Amino acid sequence: MKLVGLVGWRGMVGSVLLQRMQEEGDFAHIEPVFFSTSNAGGKAPALAKNETTLKDASDIEALKKCDIIITCQGGDYTSEIFPKLRAAGWNGYWIDAASTLRMKDDAIIVLDPVNLDVIKDGLKRGVKNYIGGNCTVSCMMMGLGGLFEHDMIEWMTSMTYQAASGGGAQHMRELLTQFGSINADVKALLDDPKSAILEIDRKVLGKQHAMSAEETKQFGVPLGGNLIPWIDKDLGEGLSKEEWKAGAETNKILGRGEGFSNGGKVIPVDGLCIRIGAMRCHSQALTIKLKKDVPLDEINDIIASNNQWVKVVPNDKESSMHDLTPAAVTGSLTIPVGRLRKLQMGGDYLSAFTVGDQLLWGAAEPLRRMLRIVLD
Ligand code: HSE
Repeated sequence: MKLVGLVGWRGMVGSVLLQRMQEEGDFAHIEPVFFSTSNAGGKAPALAKNETTLKDASDIEALKKCDIIITCQGGDYTSEIFPKLRAAGWNGYWIDAASTLRMKDDAIIVLDPVNLDVIKDGLKRGVKNYIGGNCTVSCMMMGLGGLFEHDMIEWMTSMTYQAASGGGAQHMRELLTQFGSINADVKALLDDPKSAILEIDRKVLGKQHAMSAEETKQFGVPLGGNLIPWIDKDLGEGLSKEEWKAGAETNKILGRGEGFSNGGKVIPVDGLCIRIGAMRCHSQALTIKLKKDVPLDEINDIIASNNQWVKVVPNDKESSMHDLTPAAVTGSLTIPVGRLRKLQMGGDYLSAFTVGDQLLWGAAEPLRRMLRIVLD
């Protein structure tokens, strides 16, 4: 049995990964070794078989014994440990949730329902680094896989509505704390049906403006009752790193563009990335320029039949309100795609809206599936 090192399994993404691995019976196929950055020597989780103590996640010799390493420990860990491990001659498979290695030439972004051909080609060529994609990109591609598979997209914009969890567990806590403190400030007025709504509104704004640095430590500004039209680093010229990822990663996942396995032309994908007060589902509104005017019922079929997780939601009010929201999707692998209609600009302009749990398809699921592909 392959020795599989697990790093960062206690964090939010790591915990979701472990849960999914248990649900899918992955542990029956591996000999797990649990690593820790802070508690080496401690007791490994009950899932451990022979190695029941936690190994030191910075111990290169211990890591080197693994055939495969899966890490959700984050980019700093990858930056520090991965080069040392390779320099020490380790030639195992590195499966990583962090973005650090994603765009490297010797790494493949994994999303096998969409790019199994690229992954298989990589395995054949001896590629050893398999990295999970940006959550927004992965969820979008799971939804629109059919349009990519049939090469129907000339270009696409994606306007995102990204949840707090994309920032991390502390960000989710901060959002809820902000909601709570705003509510506490206006509770007495809310309880009085005769109170003036503009007075409530004024107090909410007052609270948002008065939030301390401590109350906005993660996001920098209030997110409760607000939104933030910027995610990740400022790359200059008005572009955020999250927005840059949309085009760069989509094309790399597809193996498109110069130097990639599928060659061909790059598909322009660009738009704005916005943080909103949802918990763990990223949503996005898409404007798709099709290469040709394909009837909507055909488009529905192409999208719906691409993979077992995508679900086309009828473009009506009731269905959209109930099936196409973060609250409907959280905790499930289903990727609903709705609001599909031809736009006023012409028959080759399509709108779509999709939602995905950013901890599942956006983070943990592609990693555990890659593990199974390596094991097969
Ligand atoms: N960068 C994403 C976000 C999360 O901030 O929502 C991880 O891909």
